[in-house]
Amino acid sequence: MSGIDPLADSLRFEKPVPPCAVVIFGANGDLTKRKLLPALYRLAYERRLPAGFAILGVSRTAMGDDQFREKMRASVQQFLEDSPFDEDLWRSFAQGLFYLSGDIGDAAMFAALRQRLDEIEAARATAGNVLFYLSTAPAQYEPAAEGLGAAGLNRAPNGAWRRIIIEKPFGRDQSSAHALNANVQKVFDEESVYRIDHYLGKETVQNILAFRFGNGIFEPLWNRRYVNHVQVTAAESIGVEGRGGYYQDAGALRDMIQNHLLQVMATIAMEPPAEYAAGAVRDERAKLLKSIRRIRAEDVPRQAVKGQYGAARVGGAEMPGFRQEPGVDPAAQTDTYAALTLEVENWRWAGVPFYIRSGKRLPKRVTDIAIQFNRAPLSVFGSENGGDWPNLLVLRIQPEEGISLRFFSKLPGAGMKLRPVTMDFNYGTSFGSRTPTAYETLLLDALEGDATLYTRQDMVEASWAVVQPVLDVWGATRFDLPNYSAGTWGPAAADQMLAARGHVWRVP
Ligand code: BG6
Repeated sequence: MSGIDPLADSLRFEKPVPPCAVVIFGANGDLTKRKLLPALYRLAYERRLPAGFAILGVSRTAMGDDQFREKMRASVQQFLEDSPFDEDLWRSFAQGLFYLSGDIGDAAMFAALRQRLDEIEAARATAGNVLFYLSTAPAQYEPAAEGLGAAGLNRAPNGAWRRIIIEKPFGRDQSSAHALNANVQKVFDEESVYRIDHYLGKETVQNILAFRFGNGIFEPLWNRRYVNHVQVTAAESIGVEGRGGYYQDAGALRDMIQNHLLQVMATIAMEPPAEYAAGAVRDERAKLLKSIRRIRAEDVPRQAVKGQYGAARVGGAEMPGFRQEPGVDPAAQTDTYAALTLEVENWRWAGVPFYIRSGKRLPKRVTDIAIQFNRAPLSVFGSENGGDWPNLLVLRIQPEEGISLRFFSKLPGAGMKLRPVTMDFNYGTSFGSRTPTAYETLLLDALEGDATLYTRQDMVEASWAVVQPVLDVWGATRFDLPNYSAGTWGPAAADQMLAARGHVWRVP
């Protein structure tokens, strides 16, 4: 058939998904409609799902299978982004969609779930394999795991499997994350627990490993001898988009840095894994996270910056401040911006600062990683050509996807004047094909039993340990907020934090 990439096709047949059912708790929620169902539909479109397949949505809202199918059809059509909606495919996909209404706190719901799964197994030949997806409010994670255990749904019949995906936030601090891990592990063994961090599923984040460990020329430079510092930026131009209630108790440090950005940093800084397999890759990520130096309470003001946006006029439109957003306390101390200076205590990175920042209502949406290399040890072209820091490698995660390397070049004409130029790789132009969304990749991996891009208990707890001292100090301090205007690059204190080490934030 035309239009099918033979390489993708051969990969598909290498790792088939076994027959199975996916049970989504929180089926009436935002994530299900925006991400999960469009991703599952897209996998069906790509012919990645087996014939014996079913999805069972669970939530409190009373609704029948047909009503659920109609709702999901509308969501898939709305959120499919760059993929076509195929009516024939939808009809066959929808035959495998089911719904159960019930309360996670109610044992009768789990009994009904058990029965429903038996019926689905008989009707759809799902072979007893079940992937549970917890996409509920976080307070429901432990009751859901417990309910599954009490109903015996965690135990698969001979030869089959049971797995559980847990959405973020995984705990709200170090001790609650530890307790959540312990409680989930009473019911599911660690191999069956898939903690999702959708940044790890992004193609461009996966490509960091390909770039580092698939090539021989970068790794020799990837250390304290050549790298001066690293900047990781995840900027969003949006505000809290109706999630004020959740966000006011979370804040940028918990919402983005503890999970997504620390995982990205681990991917940048980890040692090469012995093999590309879940155990080896996760061992290295975990080791790196454990090597990040704990910030002492007295260093928090020097190593961490908290910001919150205030109202401003941006591009002709009035933007409310965070405290004016719906559902937000007008005196909220929430960080809508957070920046950290981290150091890794190992032989490769000792002394190299990693600056990490994330914020809402910044000038644009951009996530990237900038590796700033040292200057040439001496400038043979005169001081006028030696003052800059030419060698910068930027790994662009989104929305543009690519990699660029900056270096000095001779300015054409008489004399020897140097100017920085850029060498660019762009995913779109090089490959031309659509990149799968993070949820497509991660759901497919979980269905195949590949946990490489999921976080493990020790990784989650180690990353909480990194941010915990900052959370503690911030929790005990009153800040003068707001301290940056919507549409700007965050508070002045973040610039001062870098200036103290002779550095400046790049404008991405
Ligand atoms: C989520 C956060 O985990 O990631 C959101 O809760 C944030 O606040 C989102 O907007 C960003 O994800 P992405 O993929 O759009 O960068």
